[in-house]
Amino acid sequence: MYKIRHQFIQHAKSVSQLLSRAAAMSSQPQVYVTRPDVDISGLELLRKSCNVTTWSQALPVPRDELLRQIKGKDALYCALTDKIDAAVLDAAGEQLKCIATISVGYEHIDVDECHKRGIRVGYTPDVLTDATAELTLALLLATNRRLFEANKEVYNGGWKSWAPMWMCGHGLKNSRVGFFGFGRIGQEIAARIVPFKPAKITYTTRTARPEEAAKVNAEHVSFDEMLCSSDFIVVSCALTPNTKEIFNAAAFEKMKTNCIFINTARGGVVDQMALCEALQAKRILAAGLDVTTPEPLPLDDPLLKLDNVVVLPHIGSADIETRKEMSRITARNILAALQGCEMEAEVK
Ligand code: DGY
Repeated sequence: MYKIRHQFIQHAKSVSQLLSRAAAMSSQPQVYVTRPDVDISGLELLRKSCNVTTWSQALPVPRDELLRQIKGKDALYCALTDKIDAAVLDAAGEQLKCIATISVGYEHIDVDECHKRGIRVGYTPDVLTDATAELTLALLLATNRRLFEANKEVYNGGWKSWAPMWMCGHGLKNSRVGFFGFGRIGQEIAARIVPFKPAKITYTTRTARPEEAAKVNAEHVSFDEMLCSSDFIVVSCALTPNTKEIFNAAAFEKMKTNCIFINTARGGVVDQMALCEALQAKRILAAGLDVTTPEPLPLDDPLLKLDNVVVLPHIGSADIETRKEMSRITARNILAALQGCEMEAEVK
């Protein structure tokens, strides 16, 4: 009898614990995370004080699922593959306070629409600057020294013997390197290029940045001058209506025939068909692309048939520690916005 009574009390206690946990959770802010595979440290931060739901697959969340899941949420943790526009905000409802993206780029978010509705937008600048600069340099060197082409020859029998002019590329030494965009990432790429002893570094931005440029002895030049005079062009700008497809047929036409074009910014700044034609016609020498339109690039895309192109699958910031910290910053941005505090990095 005593045993039954004891069991009943224990059962009642656990039911009441469950009920109070459920009550606490329902009063907690509701956060939707569009990927289950973001680093756990960010999710753990959120779970301490929020009720967190995530999309179930390690793939971008389908649009209709996002529209369903966002309903009633207080915050959204998203990625650059999620288009966040008025329809998503409408589906969420008026309680939505914040969108935080695990990326430095935020062209996938209609920021004006968010701000109109008083929804704050967080992002992850700075933390990925070094990782992206490092990857850009790796891509540049892989392209100018033909690493992937040469590596293939090792496996397909093309490597017959050491040969004086075989698999030769064009070094950075004594070259002229032009930057399109010269923000934090561009400056860090330039700093990593300096030890390779280029003859000159130039950059094109709307307004000159003399202090930052002085650190790498870079000269501010017009877009046309950068196009006409560079041996390497490194794209390091945000995708905006002004930069959309700015690298078009006319731009490739102006480049030197030995020019190597490197893009780790956004595929949208390039008219990709024009780039492909310029490479096929050897109007420019080669291209290294970490970003394309679309992503992923279809396997039958003509760019993938060219030897003078190195394509990477958008891995600029894919350094483990960087991605972990990006996850935590995204979480901290959400927590700050929910508490009405200053966010670590807010799009103003
Ligand atoms: C970004 O953050 O915008 C990069 O493209 C991916 O990390």
